[in-house]
Amino acid sequence: MKFDKLVGIIGWPVSHSLSPAMHNRAFLSLGLEGWCYVAMPVASEPISRVKDAVFGLRALQYRGANVTVPHKETVVPYMDRLSKTARAIGAVNTIVIDQQGQLVGHNTDALGFTNDLHDHQIDVKNMHVLVLGAGGSAKAVVYGLLSQGCKNISVENRTKSKARDLVQPFRHQFKDAKLNIDVSIDDKKQAHLVVNTTSLGMSDTREQMPWDQNLVFKSEQIVYDLIYNPPTTTFLAFAKKNKAKAINGLGMLVHQGALSFTLWTGQNAPIAAMKSAAEEALLQRDFF
Ligand code: ATR
Repeated sequence: MKFDKLVGIIGWPVSHSLSPAMHNRAFLSLGLEGWCYVAMPVASEPISRVKDAVFGLRALQYRGANVTVPHKETVVPYMDRLSKTARAIGAVNTIVIDQQGQLVGHNTDALGFTNDLHDHQIDVKNMHVLVLGAGGSAKAVVYGLLSQGCKNISVENRTKSKARDLVQPFRHQFKDAKLNIDVSIDDKKQAHLVVNTTSLGMSDTREQMPWDQNLVFKSEQIVYDLIYNPPTTTFLAFAKKNKAKAINGLGMLVHQGALSFTLWTGQNAPIAAMKSAAEEALLQRDFF
């Protein structure tokens, strides 16, 4: 078979990424010929490697790529154009290479997150949402929430200055939203939705959670953890024990991938097939 429509993922590490399984299943499921999605490990140092990799995609006639940790912000200056969302978030997770060879940077994380909230019938318009963490994924989550009309968001981060830097540009863009970084116990008790965007709960911090265990959840609270490996983090297990609704990040992963798929192929993504492929690939992996 001839593979002449290549896409893939740039990051470090990417050997555990579920995206190749998810996208290759999607190509198969729609019978799209010639498409292939590959993992492309790109080291952070020297930084010129990231630039070489991005420009190399054009030289190699790739149709596009996903960009993951730790390069989502690094690739921004190498883009010829940015979507409104990528510009607002300051990070690119999807590159489209158009027919003129122009690199167009998109960010599908924000809409991927809110599409998954939609799947769970969660409407954030009148909710108070507490976001834990202030890294790249927190920025996409906060932008997604604001775009969906959420007017009350609290951001708690170990390094408070990063929470401040995160909310500041959004204060100008979304003037009627309340963006709070002085998170009180009451904020935690009253938040309708709590979203973990920190890495606490993954790999060597699997036993930990970004929450005080003396603070129990009420059954009407919703806890969303962006982590999907392990599928039930210590945080989600705690939420479940308190009878709160607990959601992991697999749905967001699938939705951001589905949106990238559509940007590259122009086709509606086979979301159910992509989700099955991601779940199957996850079962074959050890915890990382
Ligand atoms: P990502 O792109 O996945 O969001 P990131 O930008 O590196 O990754 O952000 C990681 C987030 O997890 C940050 O909010 C980080 O807190 P700091 O800004 O204080 O570094 C948070 N984080 C990572 N390890 C943590 C830990 N042990 N305790 C609390 N927060 C942690």
